[in-house]
Amino acid sequence: PSTIATNVTMMEHSVGREQRAGVLGQHEGFRGCTIWFTGLSGAGKTTVSFALEKALTQMGIPCYGLDGDNVRHGLCKNLGFSKEDRAENIRRVAEVAKLFADAGMVSLASFISPFRADRDSAREIHKALGLPFFEVYVNAPLEVCEERDPRDLYKKARKGQIQGMTGIDSAYEPPLSPDLVLHHKETALEAVNTVLEFLVRQGIVP
Ligand code: PPS
Ligand code: MG
Repeated sequence: PSTIATNVTMMEHSVGREQRAGVLGQHEGFRGCTIWFTGLSGAGKTTVSFALEKALTQMGIPCYGLDGDNVRHGLCKNLGFSKEDRAENIRRVAEVAKLFADAGMVSLASFISPFRADRDSAREIHKALGLPFFEVYVNAPLEVCEERDPRDLYKKARKGQIQGMTGIDSAYEPPLSPDLVLHHKETALEAVNTVLEFLVRQGIVP
């Protein structure tokens, strides 16, 4: 098969190339950093990350959203969902996020990234270059994610049609000291505003 990871769906961005190119160089100063969204499948990582990508672009801040479902169609298409493959997935995307950040962009990374050690390595990769790395925990309980189940992945996992589903038969290790926590009762818009306020406090957003 062209891809090892089955059950991955291409997610559409809310901004396109024209809009991205339009904001290059609008604000002075280096703002490169990585915002790392972690959480269960269905927690809202992609939704918040891509909505934030749109909001930042509209504010003139160059940014780019790297998403699990998407990179698994290309950069990481030879990886599945074993512990080892997830570690390699996170290592690769952390390296790419670092490069975007180094280039002065706000990298938005939305990956389940269920293992603390892998997320800590992602942070280290950034720290080594002095690039800010913010871990954002998209905190939605399994019951809520399973109720949402936008792609029927939990349903399939419960029926044994998917093995190694995070939260069902593969672990999720919640962050112990995330830089920011988003609550599942926040709407996507509220969550975006929470992150934007955080980024203002961090000096990333003017
Ligand atoms: S990881 O754990 O960080 O390497 O995963 P990630 O690259 O973010 O990919 C998660 C998306 O893949 C789909 N999918 C699965 N998720 C978890 N477990 C299993 N077994 C699985 N199989 C497919 C799913 O659409 C995930 O996207 P999100 O947006 O998180 O639901
Ligand atoms: Mg997603």
